Amino acid sequence: MADDQNAGSGRSGLSRRRLLLGGVVAGLGAATAIGADLALNPRADAPEPAAPLNGQETVPFFGVHQAGITTTPQAHATFIALDLQPGVDRDALRRMMRILSDDAARLTQGRAALADSEPELGTVPARLTVTFGFGPGFVSRAGDARPDWLGPLPAFTIDRLEPAWNDGDLLLQIAADDAFTVAHAARMLLKDSRSFATVRWTQTGFRRAHGSEKPGTTMRNLFGQVDGTVNLTPGTADFDRLVWHERGWLAGGTGLVIRRIRMDLDKWDRLDRGGREQSVGRTLATGAPLTGTNEHDEPDFAATTSIGFPVIPEFSHIRRARTENTDERIFRRGYNYDGVPTAGEISNSGLLFVSFQADVGRQFVPIQRRLDELDLLNEWTTPIGSAVFAIPPGCGESGFVGETLLT
Ligand code: HEM
Repeated sequence: MADDQNAGSGRSGLSRRRLLLGGVVAGLGAATAIGADLALNPRADAPEPAAPLNGQETVPFFGVHQAGITTTPQAHATFIALDLQPGVDRDALRRMMRILSDDAARLTQGRAALADSEPELGTVPARLTVTFGFGPGFVSRAGDARPDWLGPLPAFTIDRLEPAWNDGDLLLQIAADDAFTVAHAARMLLKDSRSFATVRWTQTGFRRAHGSEKPGTTMRNLFGQVDGTVNLTPGTADFDRLVWHERGWLAGGTGLVIRRIRMDLDKWDRLDRGGREQSVGRTLATGAPLTGTNEHDEPDFAATTSIGFPVIPEFSHIRRARTENTDERIFRRGYNYDGVPTAGEISNSGLLFVSFQADVGRQFVPIQRRLDELDLLNEWTTPIGSAVFAIPPGCGESGFVGETLLT
């Protein structure tokens, strides 16, 4: 309605101005006349938006599951891990989660958070989602038993973990199609968590901007690879079985793994295109398997070259990441990162590998073990950060995220 009103006043404003300008523009060409009009009021001829603005799109906050998991990935995401302050007990955790849930419920719907000192910044939700995750320390303070997989992952030989990117008690995954929206939501949530927790690490990631590519296009990572082709599909029985936890306070929730994986772009530059494609087992142009023509063609792992070598090499990432055991599957929802290079470097980039799975120990760990043993991609990639969180279920309008653990 407001848009219609603005559009209406815009039109009548234009005709009034035309009347006033009548004498001035008489005898000038049409183009000059329009130019004069625009110079007096640059918005006079602005076209009315054909469709609702991207910034006004919202994703429901309340629901059985938290938003930000099955949500079509937004363009920007910030992951923040917090450490609980000493003395924060179960009651304090409940108070904190009530406040943070209320903030998230408002901001995701384009309403300012309570006590928002910049309320105007809360009015462009741009599909904002806020997803909360609990680390082992959080669950222990809540006094409940934690799933056996909730803790640091086993050590892998490829890991070069830097303490700055590991672990944490509370995770905020804040994602939207507008980086400004993400920044404001992060600021609000951190202000309101200040008396309970301190920031341990912050990681920001990106995909293509909203509207830059056709909806449904699989993302590319900074190696240029199509990344995310073989993945669980939200809404399918497989997804429900393999992503959503079924029992206890985590029923309707899931497990999240975040790994900061550095990608050596300079070393990758020195590899020819054939080598790059062999390292993964897929083409760079379309992401098709080396045995196929389209992205979603099923790879033929038995196919051999004329001299008897497998077309999709034994060491390739897709061969190593896949298993016959269909229970060992995960839902990947990662983001690219592009950090500030240190002296002498021209890039500090990689992948914020993020996966959701009901049981991290049974689903993620066996895949990572296989990749640790053999995966040519390891030549150019190094995990430098690692954390695991339990993602509690969603909540209803009178509830808050974490209520199944804290009440
Ligand atoms: C920087 C590190 C990584 C890069 C650049 C990368 C890249 C890729 C690419 C290009 C594909 C093929 C397209 C697709 O199906 O998505 C792929 C597939 C896959 N990746 Fe990764 N990946 C990385 C790390 C990981 C990690 C840490 C895991 C899990 C531990 C993983 C698990 C998978 C799985 C399960 C598939 C699908 C395999 C299949 O075809 O069944 N990836 N990855």
